[in-house]
Amino acid sequence: MQTIKLNNGVEIPQLGFGVYQIPLNETAEAVYQAIKVGYRLIDTASIYGNEKETGEGIKRAIDEGLVTREELFITSKLFILQAPESKATETIEHSIHTMGLDYLDLYLIHQPYGDVYGAWRAMVAAQKAGKLRAIGVSNFKAAKMIEFIGLNEVKPQINQIEVNPWNQRMEDQEWHEKFDVQVEAWAPFAEGLHDLFTNPVLAEIGEQYGKTIGQVVLRWLMQRGIVALAKSVRPERMAENIDIFDFELSKEDIEKIAALDMKESAFFDHDAPQQVEWFMNRMVETEK
Ligand SMILES: NC(=O)c1ccc[n+]([C@@H]2O[C@H](COP(=O)([O-])OP(=O)(O)OC[C@H]3O[C@@H](n4cnc5c(N)ncnc54)[C@H](OP(=O)(O)O)[C@@H]3O)[C@@H](O)[C@H]2O)c1
Repeated sequence: MQTIKLNNGVEIPQLGFGVYQIPLNETAEAVYQAIKVGYRLIDTASIYGNEKETGEGIKRAIDEGLVTREELFITSKLFILQAPESKATETIEHSIHTMGLDYLDLYLIHQPYGDVYGAWRAMVAAQKAGKLRAIGVSNFKAAKMIEFIGLNEVKPQINQIEVNPWNQRMEDQEWHEKFDVQVEAWAPFAEGLHDLFTNPVLAEIGEQYGKTIGQVVLRWLMQRGIVALAKSVRPERMAENIDIFDFELSKEDIEKIAALDMKESAFFDHDAPQQVEWFMNRMVETEK
């Protein structure tokens, strides 16, 4: 698996496996199967409610000798920190413990709300203590990320944001490159919205190489230098999605994909009042 070096020197696999929305009783098996077919980066979050099951899949793969812990790159996220800063320290410890691990390779502030500065101070301390190898943010728009960098001594290594053919984030990527923050793409397939998996433009590009639409999309992200997280509960699709390192999209292919950009989220705007209302309700639920 090819890797990308983050701004603190840590190397991250460029393609990863996400466990969002995988049913609890399928998560451990899915994680195990993903590792078995070659994924090394596994992405979960406290709000997904499946850190324990993700950890079980990881443990099985290690126990069976498929990989060592050092070969894996495990991510989790803090949803929204109400207060105080010590709560973030507890949440980090809780995630590590729940997953049955000694450290995480990457830890992210999941949403650009709540006490992101308190959370960040706790994360920087945990990084210095060797509990988190890399730290970053998620769903920060470029402007928010730039402000955040300006107000903190340690800058994020990663910003995990929605990137897919409908929402390509070209300008955002340029800002991230300027500040040396790695872009990591969530929902690379836009969860299939707008009929992504039957799109004729993407299908025609794939046909030239004997590749599927899913493979074209992930390859496009690899060539953009973006880390991508793909999710599937089906082992055959897991294998399909990782089989993208033996072909190269041409300039013409990339121009055709560029023309698909709708320049807006396939899901929702993180700053929309109803969305923030939802985040706040989720935060209160998860605090109970
Ligand atoms: N930071 C954030 O706020 C945030 C938000 C969303 C997601 N994420 C992360 O990003 C990861 C990926 O995003 P996502 O899970 O939302 O969506 P996604 O990866 O864009 O799409 C997943 C969907 O595509 C299907 N699929 C996967 N491979 C396929 C293929 N080759 N052919 C046809 N269908 C295929 C899956 O179905 P099957 O499972 O049935 O195969 C599933 O329905 C998440 O799991 C999570 O780790 C982060």
